[in-house]
Amino acid sequence: MEFVGFSLRNNLFVAPMAGVTDRPFRQLCKKMGAGLAVSEMVTSNSLLYGSAKTQRRANHDGEVAPISVQIAGAAPQMMADAARHNVDRGAQIIDINMGCPAKKICNVMAGSALLRDEPLVGRILEAVVNAVPGTPVTLKIRTGWDKSNRNALSILKIAEQSGIRALAMHGRTRACGYTGFAEYETIAAVKAQAHIPIIANGDITSPEKAKFVLEATGADALMIGRAAQGRPWLFREIEHYLNTGTHLLPPRVSEIHEVLTAHLEDLYAFYGIETGVRVARKHISWYTKGLIGSASFRHRMNQLPDIVQQQMAVNDFFVGLAEHNEHLSYIQTEDHNDTEGLAA
Ligand SMILES: Cc1cc2nc3c(=O)[nH]c(=O)nc-3n(C[C@H](O)[C@H](O)[C@H](O)COP(=O)(O)O)c2cc1C
Repeated sequence: MEFVGFSLRNNLFVAPMAGVTDRPFRQLCKKMGAGLAVSEMVTSNSLLYGSAKTQRRANHDGEVAPISVQIAGAAPQMMADAARHNVDRGAQIIDINMGCPAKKICNVMAGSALLRDEPLVGRILEAVVNAVPGTPVTLKIRTGWDKSNRNALSILKIAEQSGIRALAMHGRTRACGYTGFAEYETIAAVKAQAHIPIIANGDITSPEKAKFVLEATGADALMIGRAAQGRPWLFREIEHYLNTGTHLLPPRVSEIHEVLTAHLEDLYAFYGIETGVRVARKHISWYTKGLIGSASFRHRMNQLPDIVQQQMAVNDFFVGLAEHNEHLSYIQTEDHNDTEGLAA
């Protein structure tokens, strides 16, 4: 698809997820079928400190273009500076976060809390768009502040007037947190009025759901977050289903064994040994959740302190799994969209 001046493989995007969509994961999702991956948020004020974490987040070495970097904050000038800073470091698209309900962010009135103050939204959007001429700026929002203040339509108008090039919408209000189900009516209503591409987001967990959300909203693209954790091949599964109406077979155990092994190596190289082992635990848990014998495996794996033991445990688990199954087979219906560990 054509998207804000770039030609993408498809219209399936990886949602920005702080602590998840680091460079290794974005690269892997793109390799396994995602058309675009938005990087986790880089807060505008932390840029001042140049912390290791912020620098790692802004590292795009070897990433498949276009590189989209999300920024968050409530001060127009600081947001403008953050946009410029990221463009100088290789960002080709700047995405503004007004959709994350995390407490840490809402307390400083950024993320979805901003949706309440429409004049301020306008000032931020204009400041960012003007700061990076030639770089498309996109916006991510929830449907509104709470159920009686779903002001997404007025935010759309403000966004279009400010020169925003695309709008991603999570079908929940800020007050909803992650409870209940995402609704798609508000996204459909916004799409009906929009002159810019609309990206629908929220609770897309399967090829069928992807097709449903595309049809229900008329959106130009889909954005998928939690369901891709530990399952980056979901993008190619959805792509195949949307193109053919048929399902790919579940991936071979041997393929996912290789994918995870390479993912772990990437994480160790990216984060260094100590942090790498810690970050890897989270991903290993997601990959194995619902597979035979995985609960006791995860329990053991989480205690292992170093790379070699972690790699050996993963290896043993997948070799054991391959003895029972050629293809991945889950023993329970997975709720990939649990909110475990979420700040909101
Ligand atoms: C762990 C986690 C971190 C997230 N971090 C961000 C973020 O930094 N910026 C943002 O705009 N949204 C963030 N989100 C929200 C997601 O981008 C997405 O809107 C939400 O998870 C709904 O999509 P899903 O149902 O496909 O997961 C985060 C979500 C999760 C689960």
